[in-house]
Amino acid sequence: MERLQKVIANSGYTSRRKAEELILQKKVEVNGVLVSELGTKVSEKDIITVDGEEINRDEKVYYLLNKPRGVITSTKDEHGRKTVVSLIDEKRRIYPVGRLDYDTTGALILTNDGEFANRLMHPSNQIDKVYVAKIEGVLLPSEIMALKNGVEIDGIKTAKARVKIKKIDKKANTSIVEMVIHEGKNHQVKRMFECVNKKVLKLKREKIAFLDLKGLASGEYRKLSHKEVSKFYVLTK
Ligand code: URA
Repeated sequence: MERLQKVIANSGYTSRRKAEELILQKKVEVNGVLVSELGTKVSEKDIITVDGEEINRDEKVYYLLNKPRGVITSTKDEHGRKTVVSLIDEKRRIYPVGRLDYDTTGALILTNDGEFANRLMHPSNQIDKVYVAKIEGVLLPSEIMALKNGVEIDGIKTAKARVKIKKIDKKANTSIVEMVIHEGKNHQVKRMFECVNKKVLKLKREKIAFLDLKGLASGEYRKLSHKEVSKFYVLTK
């Protein structure tokens, strides 16, 4: 059972506050009965109408965003910084699946499908994420091995990773390194590099499983197709 105003807001019809106003204005009915109290709880089976129009509680939406730098991966920010959710023109309450740091760019999924989000984030599902990092310096073979085999973050060893050196700029003393991991610890990539004394200068997530950023410039987004959504459901059985 959930509060009526929350269910109306979650359907994307309007915000929580506006939903409360609609209830107080006696515009909301549950199973044909007028409800004007805010605490009312409803179940999944209840039919809710606003101004006589049934709200669609089930429609799920899925977006892939090419996150720019300087945007926070959250639904709100206390300090008034721009959020990833505000970049997407969608009335429903969507939220990001996992996190990218403020200064990290690249692939981020946003949805209102809680089960989908949980499945994708659950470590047992081992969804590969491909990151490309620009780091200070050049990795020694022993450091590459350490990153591949796992390094300790907060006393726990990270799972095996794939690590590939894409480019070395000797003059600038920087390297471009691709790293594929399936865990999602906080700041994982930066902290893994920290373990081998390398600073990450730039970080981009280029892929989440089979989803890449083809056709999406920084700040652009698209809806996932039904096929892509079911592919994720199959991958995370
Ligand atoms: N790892 C990081 O360190 N930062 C991110 O944003 C994502 C993965």
